[in-house]
Amino acid sequence: MEIKHVCILGAGTLGSRIAFQAALSGYWVKVYDIKEESFDSSKKMIAKIAKGLIASETYTKEAIDAALTRLSYTLSDVEAVAEADIISESVTEDSALKQKVWARMAQIAPEKTIFTTNTSYLLPSSLAPFTGRPTRFCAFHFHDVFYSKIVDIMPHPGTDADVIEILHDFGQKLKQVPVILKKENNGYIFNAMLLSFLGAAGKLLVNEVATIQDIDKSWMVNFHVPMGPFAILDSIGLDTAWHVTHQLPDANSKAFAALLKTYIDAGKLGEKSGEGFYEYPNEK
Ligand SMILES: NC(=O)c1ccc[n+]([C@@H]2O[C@H](COP(=O)([O-])OP(=O)(O)OC[C@H]3O[C@@H](n4cnc5c(N)ncnc54)[C@H](O)[C@@H]3O)[C@@H](O)[C@H]2O)c1
Repeated sequence: MEIKHVCILGAGTLGSRIAFQAALSGYWVKVYDIKEESFDSSKKMIAKIAKGLIASETYTKEAIDAALTRLSYTLSDVEAVAEADIISESVTEDSALKQKVWARMAQIAPEKTIFTTNTSYLLPSSLAPFTGRPTRFCAFHFHDVFYSKIVDIMPHPGTDADVIEILHDFGQKLKQVPVILKKENNGYIFNAMLLSFLGAAGKLLVNEVATIQDIDKSWMVNFHVPMGPFAILDSIGLDTAWHVTHQLPDANSKAFAALLKTYIDAGKLGEKSGEGFYEYPNEK
């Protein structure tokens, strides 16, 4: 099957990025969200990314303007999926919410549509029964899309082999490097490693071993990289990080989740809200 029309569910950090890359890759993209405010922040985020892509000569201004004519937003899920060949779901990382969203898509999406979830930590087999089409459902998980270009293809045991092939091809067309998991794994490949790393940083912080800045510095200076674990958490979004961390059973994860919650309750969600562990722009 040829993919032409893409539906994105959720206009947040990741939904916006996937939508923009899909439009840049020539696809027609409709983005659905339940909140109109999400569209404003999505447009701002895309404008910022576009500026960087033009500055780095990755895309011309003309290519970006053309892509933006292929991208539209809607508060109607029926309109969003009407022509969709594929759905990429990036709603909030909440199992019950994702189940509800897929049950709705089962009712309203065309028969041809392939269903994919961008969940960070859930297994597709836990969502498949709600989709009404488990054989055409697969996890298709992006990282940052523009800077970190790995896309995980993680089928559940009932996913059709041809869906995996289609996603592999689609991933490449979105300028990502696809990797196919041989079995389901919470956190895929990279996130499984990242979670241990961020968890170790969280453990150092909640046990008051060192400051946020010194923990970040230790990583950055040794590895010659621009971000440490807390800056990475800010870029992921502290709410998204909390959704994963608070479900982990050990005491250190629970304590770190409780700390993250204090930031979230204060409106500090990380880079996207202007403040998290650091203030943006011009974080130190
Ligand atoms: N942030 C990351 O770095 C990252 C990376 C890879 C994968 N993910 C995954 O992508 C998904 C989205 O994460 P995010 O960081 O973009 O979250 P986000 O909070 O930035 O965005 C989530 C969006 O979903 C919308 N939403 C909530 N309920 C909805 C519904 N019923 N229908 C449509 N939209 C709805 C919200 O209004 C919001 O705009 C999560 O599953 C997350 O685990 C995130």
